[in-house]
Amino acid sequence: MKTRIAVMVSGGGTNLQALLDAWKSGQFNQAEISLVVSNQEKAKALDRARAVHVPALFLNPAQYKDRQAYDQQLLKSFQENKIDLICLAGYMRILTTVIVRQYEQRIMNIHPALLPAFGGEGMYGLHVHEAVMQSGAKYSGCTVHFVDEGTDTGPIILQAVVPVLDHDTPDKLAERVLIEEHRLYPRAVSLFCEGRLQVAGKRVLIKEKA
Ligand code: GRF
Repeated sequence: MKTRIAVMVSGGGTNLQALLDAWKSGQFNQAEISLVVSNQEKAKALDRARAVHVPALFLNPAQYKDRQAYDQQLLKSFQENKIDLICLAGYMRILTTVIVRQYEQRIMNIHPALLPAFGGEGMYGLHVHEAVMQSGAKYSGCTVHFVDEGTDTGPIILQAVVPVLDHDTPDKLAERVLIEEHRLYPRAVSLFCEGRLQVAGKRVLIKEKA
C-alpha cells in the first residue's frame, strides 16, 4: 500500500517543490503526494502542484464560521483522499485538535530554526531569523517535527544546523536556512514512508533500514 501524502501550504511553496521533486525522482518508497491544500487562493504553491498534476485544493476560510468548522472540512478532504501523512509546508494557520487528534504522529511541520528555541506563537517568517540574530546565537538551522496540540512543541524528527555569520542579516540567514530545509524535509518524509520513525515520548527514534 502506498503512503498517501497531503501537503498544506499558504505561500510560495519552495518546500512543497522540494517534496514534489524528491517524490518524482523516486526518493519516497511506496508513497504518493496525493493532495495539496491551501487557505490562500493565490498561493504559488497551488500552481506548483497543478504543474505536476497533483490535485490542488483551495479551501476558503471566509466560508466557515470558525477554525473548527474549517478543520472539519479539511479532515473530510483528508479522509476522502485516504491521506496517511500530512506535511505542513509554510501553512500559516494553526491546526485545531479536530485534525491533530485524528492524525497523531502523522502530521509533520518544518520550522526555520532549531526548536525548542525560537518557536511558538509569532515565530514565523522573518520574525524567527530576527529573533535568532538578536539573541546572539552562533547557530541556527531548521527542524522537522511531528505536530502535537502545542505550537512548535511536537517530537523532533530531524534537524540541520546553519551557522549565523558575523555580518548576517535576517534575509541572508533565511536564505541559507531554506537551502537546508529543502534537503531535510524530503529526508524526514522518506523515513516516515519507510516506517523508520518511532516516537518514544518526546524523542523520535530512527530505526535502521530493514
Ligand atoms: C519555510 O521557511 C518553513 O520553514 C516555514 O515557512 C516557510 C515556507 O516557505 N514553515 P515555502 O513556502 O516552502 O517557500
